[in-house]
Amino acid sequence: MEDEPVNIREYEEIAKQVLPKMIFDFYNGGAGDEYTLRENREAYKRIMLRPRILVDVSRIDMSTTLLGYKMQSPIMVAPTARHKYAHPEGEVATARAAAACNTLMVLSFGSSRKIEDVASSCNAVRFYQLYVYQKREVSATLVRRAEEYGFKAIVLTVDTPRLGRREKDIKNKFILPQLSNLEGLVSVDVGPVSGKRGSDLEAFASQTLDPSLCWNDIEWLRSITSLPIILKGIITADDAIKSVEMGVSGIVVSNHGARQLDYSPATISVLEEVVKAVSGAVPVLIDGGIRRGTDVFKALALGAKAVLVGRPVLFGLAAKGEKGVKSVLKMLQGELELTMALCDTTSINEITRKHVQTEGDRIR
Ligand code: FNR
Repeated sequence: MEDEPVNIREYEEIAKQVLPKMIFDFYNGGAGDEYTLRENREAYKRIMLRPRILVDVSRIDMSTTLLGYKMQSPIMVAPTARHKYAHPEGEVATARAAAACNTLMVLSFGSSRKIEDVASSCNAVRFYQLYVYQKREVSATLVRRAEEYGFKAIVLTVDTPRLGRREKDIKNKFILPQLSNLEGLVSVDVGPVSGKRGSDLEAFASQTLDPSLCWNDIEWLRSITSLPIILKGIITADDAIKSVEMGVSGIVVSNHGARQLDYSPATISVLEEVVKAVSGAVPVLIDGGIRRGTDVFKALALGAKAVLVGRPVLFGLAAKGEKGVKSVLKMLQGELELTMALCDTTSINEITRKHVQTEGDRIR
């Protein structure tokens, strides 16, 4: 029997071996030069931990709440598209794994399983991620379906007025199957893939995504749903303040896993700025480059309420289906618990700014 993976890096290796190159590149790639993709990881490595000593850490409680919903740990599943590329059960397997780990999953608009199938797969609290389409009625229909099937919040992704330039997908002539939740709602001509064409995803996005989406449209969204709205894709203090003024219920500091604007800053490097600007008005979440429990701890120390992981979940799913996603989430939870113990913190709210040293701290 092969050795069990001991970290996320090893899950990534397995995913690379088992997935066709086009799919692995789609999952793992970023925009442009992939500078931000590397920075999302590297910026975590530049933050050091400052443990305290001689505290009783025989019991560690990692639990936390978000919008009133309890989670076993502050590690959530980020919305990522097309899980069926990784495993035939797709998002249903991911949803079951998230539920088994008592954590919250955000289902992607680009899910390869129907909202109804995910909802009926198991009992759990879930959020629904939304893109706004040129045909507003498409997005409105999906919001209504998510609400009807028990999703508890809408996570509106605001960093994608157009699709980032993902050169690996262009090179691989990435093929996009019909998105299951859009059946009967959208017919887009992406045409047959020929040697001259780039990625199908790019063609699909340019014919569907609404580049005119703006702040006023938060009101539109509020008019069609009573669910709380979380904005995903904020990376500046100004936009964070504006979000709070617009009455949203939460913010995700995200650069879309470096798949949109290359040379945007690593998310962990701007988290503190956003947290300060929001000053406790709404929970601030973060994603991008989180591969270790120590990364989660650092994000919490810099003010995040919780974190979301994207690619690690896909790697786990590709490697071992539901079991793999569960293993990835448990691995991160275990690493966070150990970090908390070694930093002498026994609950999430004991993790403070004093537990980390950033580059800025060293210069001062
Ligand atoms: C994503 N992401 C994403 N975000 C979103 O709002 N809607 C979506 O459909 C998708 N789809 C998607 C597909 C794939 C393959 C990836 C890798 C990412 C972005 C995702 O929610 C999250 O912001 C990043 O994945 C976080 O970075 P890490 O954890 O992957 O480094």
